[in-house]
Amino acid sequence: MCKHKAPFSFGLPTVNNPTIDVTLRDELNDLLDPLGQSHVLQFWDELSGEQKNDLANQIRGIDWETFATLTSGNGGEPDWESLAARAVAPPAISLDQLREPAIRGQAIRRGSNAIAGGQVAFVLTAGGQGSRLGFEFPKGMFPIGPVSGRSLFQILIEHTMARGRQCGTSIPIYVMTSPQTDRETNEYLQAKQWFGYPPEDIKTFCQGVIPAVDAQTKQVLLESKSQIFANPDGHGGALAALARSGSLADMKRRGIEHVFYGQIDNPLLQICDPTLIGNHLLHQSEMTTQVVRKRDPLQRVGNVVKIDGRVQIIEYSDLPDSAAQQKTADGGLKLWAGSIAVHVFDLRFLERCNSNPQSLPFHRAAKKVDCVDSAGRSFRPQSPNAIKFERFIFDLLPQAERAIVCEVDPAEGFAAVKNSEPAQTETPSWVQRAMVRLHTSWLVQAGAVVAPGTPIEINPAFALDTEQAASRIRPGQKFERPTYLC
Ligand code: UTP
Repeated sequence: MCKHKAPFSFGLPTVNNPTIDVTLRDELNDLLDPLGQSHVLQFWDELSGEQKNDLANQIRGIDWETFATLTSGNGGEPDWESLAARAVAPPAISLDQLREPAIRGQAIRRGSNAIAGGQVAFVLTAGGQGSRLGFEFPKGMFPIGPVSGRSLFQILIEHTMARGRQCGTSIPIYVMTSPQTDRETNEYLQAKQWFGYPPEDIKTFCQGVIPAVDAQTKQVLLESKSQIFANPDGHGGALAALARSGSLADMKRRGIEHVFYGQIDNPLLQICDPTLIGNHLLHQSEMTTQVVRKRDPLQRVGNVVKIDGRVQIIEYSDLPDSAAQQKTADGGLKLWAGSIAVHVFDLRFLERCNSNPQSLPFHRAAKKVDCVDSAGRSFRPQSPNAIKFERFIFDLLPQAERAIVCEVDPAEGFAAVKNSEPAQTETPSWVQRAMVRLHTSWLVQAGAVVAPGTPIEINPAFALDTEQAASRIRPGQKFERPTYLC
């Protein structure tokens, strides 16, 4: 659990030391019964005083009125068909444009100045449960370095340190945990001494959770007789959690104006990329998102599109195939921009969105959830039995003024660890191959000779890109065995 226990997503404060007696049970029942949720109390008489107190606090922490709108099915699922019919490509800065030295140079200068001036912070979301990967610890602790065995946390923290050094500063990092990952994450990062990061510039903050419901009955699921099952409220939970934890206030105090957002599962993440930040600033965008050109029309990434003048993301599962397959006159893909969950936000924009509780809708997903049945027996489902609710941070896009997208070559910026072996893609070995390919290409472009099949891994302190690698190695230098350049 979090150091300061995260409330349920709806965020009412919990009450300490309630009187554990019949009156309390009746009071809770009066709340739950009209909502069809009184089963939450069905094991009350078997609970200890402490468990009753805990359960009462859980119940009081839920905004049942809002919760009822989710479970009643009136959450307002958009009409994706009609939205897709109106979708066009978003305003974008393409890779071709970025390869123009003048355009690139201007963006890099602007972005680097903002970083150097202490205006940029990094928010790293690491609160997910990593269920597909099936790793027993928080995903950030996964050893992904193909030669070094460095964890995702180490790689991303060292990258941020190198970026800060490149710009002559130290970039504040805010790591989002969840009650499910908070304790282990903090213990791990403290034991590793934050991988050498200045402690005053890195902190964790904990997101909220939200109860899941039985898919048939829409009743809240119980994890145990005294515990309501609740999952982290999605990466969109970052918005409220940043404010609640005091992180937004901390950013303001530090003079931060722009927030770079990235996720723990992508070791190729180009943290605080000056080109991206520079373009965000040059276009006075309130929210800029980094995208890849989709490999194929039905690629399983969110589609970044423009609808009725606003940039937004339509998940691959919501976009009809016919819309995804549309071509432009020159034969290219019309809806070409795939989201990689990398964004830059104006801090003032985040504050504005945070002041509106409705700024992020909840999405529903059918999932398998272990729970106790009505007889109090443990139940492990074979197929999805529950509906989980989550908020997605990218739903802020349509609310942003002058939102733009900025293309990145996936080989240079995106390889996410999602699945366990032996899935086809996004497994640890698939990501490690992508890392080795990228780092080998830096050495080869710098004039080195890398023997085929030789694993190469480069620490960001050694080089962040081809140019830096070129300044560190000799042309003709040979690499014939697994090498970790650090
Ligand atoms: P995913 O949606 O891929 O979830 O999160 P996951 O937890 O990594 O993996 P699965 O779906 O359970 O297999 C993308 C990113 O968003 C973060 C994750 O930590 C990851 O960096 N995230 C997701 C949160 O921080 N909180 C959440 O509630 C959900």
